[in-house]
Amino acid sequence: MIKQEKMAIVSQIEIAKNIFELTVAGSLVQEMNEPGQFVHVRVADSFEPLLRRPISVAKIDKEASSFTMIYRSEGRGTSLLSQKTERDTLDVLGPLGHGFPVDEAGKKAYLIGGGIGVPPLYELALQLNAKGVETVHILGFESSEAVFYEDKFRALGDTHIATVDGSHGTEGFVTHILNGLPNDFDTYYSCGPTPMLEAVQWAYPEKKGFLSYEQRMGCGIGACFACVCRTTRSETDYIKVCSDGPVFPAGVVIS
Ligand code: FES
Repeated sequence: MIKQEKMAIVSQIEIAKNIFELTVAGSLVQEMNEPGQFVHVRVADSFEPLLRRPISVAKIDKEASSFTMIYRSEGRGTSLLSQKTERDTLDVLGPLGHGFPVDEAGKKAYLIGGGIGVPPLYELALQLNAKGVETVHILGFESSEAVFYEDKFRALGDTHIATVDGSHGTEGFVTHILNGLPNDFDTYYSCGPTPMLEAVQWAYPEKKGFLSYEQRMGCGIGACFACVCRTTRSETDYIKVCSDGPVFPAGVVIS
């Protein structure tokens, strides 16, 4: 069930350049189940900026009734959010959308993420490992300064890092790493910029895959049509990324 709640801020840490890890606590956490769902966060208590910001969920801790988000501070809204401290509360609407189907993974899964698309893969990796699925993580970032959670992913399985400028790991994009890896997995899950998602699904046309789209959003709950995309199902078929997704099977969304 979707809830709106003023949640307590447990911690906020800059974990890479302009990348913030924000943990909040409250009863809304008990509604969270699927990795890949997101929340809509009101970044300031004033009327401006008015819109909420969609932020993906990186870790769910039901015992502590807390969850962790990771976001990039890049505009006025997220920069206001980055100034919040443990003394503040946060107006959160969620959990929103449909996440990654963990039951479809098979025995071995590739988790492929780029930039701020990496965080939801962490909760996914935790849940898949808890079910005995072997996970391999292929993660792309701009540069070494932007890399986060490398050790946390390594603790869960084989982890490969690419940076665009070659300052850490393989130089280039996640596809450069994928070219050198075996095809011995059952399912792939991917989240990141649309060109990356397209490259990944072209690389594995015969595999079962699930893609999480980073679409510009307004309401986040299916009411404003800001996030509409056409699909491959028919000329007139469309989906709303916020409420029908953000995760879709590979080959469905025309982005
Ligand atoms: Fe409003 Fe999707 S963001 S319908």
